[in-house]
Amino acid sequence: MTTTSPMYVVSESDGNQPAATASKARVADVTPTRVEIEFRGVSKAFPRKGQKDAPAVVKDLTFSIRKGEVVSLIGPSGCGKSTLLNMGSGLYSPTTGTVMVAGQEVKGPVKKVAFMLQKDLLMPWRTIEKNVEVGLEIAGMPKAERRAIATEMLGKCHLAGFEKHYPFQLSGGMRQRAALARTLAMKPDVLFLDEPFSALDAQTKMVLQQDLARTLYNEQKTALFITHDLAEAVALSDRILVMSARPGTIIEEIDVNLPMRDNPLERRKLPETGPLIGRLMELLHVGEEGSMH
Ligand SMILES: Nc1ncnc2c1ncn2[C@@H]1O[C@H](COP(=O)(O)OP(=O)(O)O)[C@@H](O)[C@H]1O
Ligand SMILES: [Mg+2]
Repeated sequence: MTTTSPMYVVSESDGNQPAATASKARVADVTPTRVEIEFRGVSKAFPRKGQKDAPAVVKDLTFSIRKGEVVSLIGPSGCGKSTLLNMGSGLYSPTTGTVMVAGQEVKGPVKKVAFMLQKDLLMPWRTIEKNVEVGLEIAGMPKAERRAIATEMLGKCHLAGFEKHYPFQLSGGMRQRAALARTLAMKPDVLFLDEPFSALDAQTKMVLQQDLARTLYNEQKTALFITHDLAEAVALSDRILVMSARPGTIIEEIDVNLPMRDNPLERRKLPETGPLIGRLMELLHVGEEGSMH
């Protein structure tokens, strides 16, 4: 298990080397790739009014994600995955510990960070392009400029021609694409994704995964991705963090170490994928008595 190391690279040091050499290697390894997201000893409890010792929902969360990495987070429902993500994006503050994003302590919503949820949260009274523009409009960007970005992002998300449609005129998959276009329109460096595809049918989901994976790869975005779909975790990510049941903590960190992170449809077909999914099932005790939540 490597999750207790606060710096990601520590897990890469060679245990056979003398300590002095190993620590030198660590310093050298840290330099080229910046840590973009870091949790240091984070816990969170939700005390009710007047309550002093509320139980922790998540505890001892310590991990880091390098710039450009895509990391999935899996764990039983209710273990605190969304809580963790909400702390990353500044919506919740930790009870103890520190969350750092892009070198700064997170104390509220962070610029350059975008969030995407299972629900598309499109505004039914706005056209698709106006939905995509909403964040830019709030940020005060002039109309022509934001319209150009919306058009570009809708094109990238395969929705060219649907700019003037309203959300109700689109299928669930298309609405989720529009939500992705809206997320990307803000040009975030860091994406927090909370089960964005879990409401979609299996085939639509695979197509959207493909688009997302390409975009994350081509634009070198850093992403933390919650999913309960173990195959999705393997198909999309560089690493997988596995959480225990509540109080949630990270019990395992798995390097996916497979090619084609930009092509999940092909990655799914690799012979290594099945055994990796099997390992995740074991860690989550899928199929064992008492494992259903
Ligand atoms: N704002 C909140 N107030 C009180 N309890 C909360 C709040 N947010 C989450 N929780 C509690 O934290 C626990 C974990 O929830 P959540 O992070 O949504 O889990 P997951 O996403 O892994 O299913 C749940 O028991 C939930 O009731
Ligand atoms: Mg959740």
